[in-house]
Amino acid sequence: MKRIVILISGRGSNMQALLETKLPCEIAAVISNRADAQGLEIAKSHGIATAVVSHKDFADRATFDAALAKAIDGYSADFVVLAGFMRILTDGFVERYRGRLINIHPSLLPAYPGIDTHARALQDGIKIHGCTVHFVTPTLDHGPIIIQAAVPVLRADTAQTLAARVLREEHRIYPQAVRWLCLDQVWLDGNGRVASDRLEQPGTSLISPGLE
Ligand code: GRF
Repeated sequence: MKRIVILISGRGSNMQALLETKLPCEIAAVISNRADAQGLEIAKSHGIATAVVSHKDFADRATFDAALAKAIDGYSADFVVLAGFMRILTDGFVERYRGRLINIHPSLLPAYPGIDTHARALQDGIKIHGCTVHFVTPTLDHGPIIIQAAVPVLRADTAQTLAARVLREEHRIYPQAVRWLCLDQVWLDGNGRVASDRLEQPGTSLISPGLE
């Protein structure tokens, strides 16, 4: 069975969704760069090993990433799953885990990489927003896409209500992506593209606002 390590920085609701789904892998550990991350307590309550590698203990990104990699490799991880991990990773770290490192981002990439995605989406007046699970590559929030979910943006939305609607979908698509990965049903091919041996499910269309 494949082993995954989940990296968090805070609340850990995506991590929790993974812990509460029956997945075909062993969750070997949850590692946080912040000792006060709420998600650490949730992981402990599920009996999952936890560790803290604080970025504040290191002079630069390279030495922090080296310590992080050492911690991850100590758990013999096949895959590294970023779940609200709020540190930019060095190219060396990303290359080390090529095809084995995934992230969830709260927008329909390549739109809105970076932070404050929901506020920016509202500002632009877009009508469909969502979330993306992707392989991590050196360009921030631009890696090959595994799965996306879309939600309508409603006229009365605030960044908070929109974030909550997107988050519900994050909790659905991240376990699916991890399942595919751990069963070797989705992988990053030699050309840096997402490959799959699954029969494709077509998904459904979303029109927003809806037709009358
Ligand atoms: C999520 O919206 C995720 O997409 C983003 O950061 C947030 C983390 O939330 N990368 P949580 O810690 O999983 O609750």
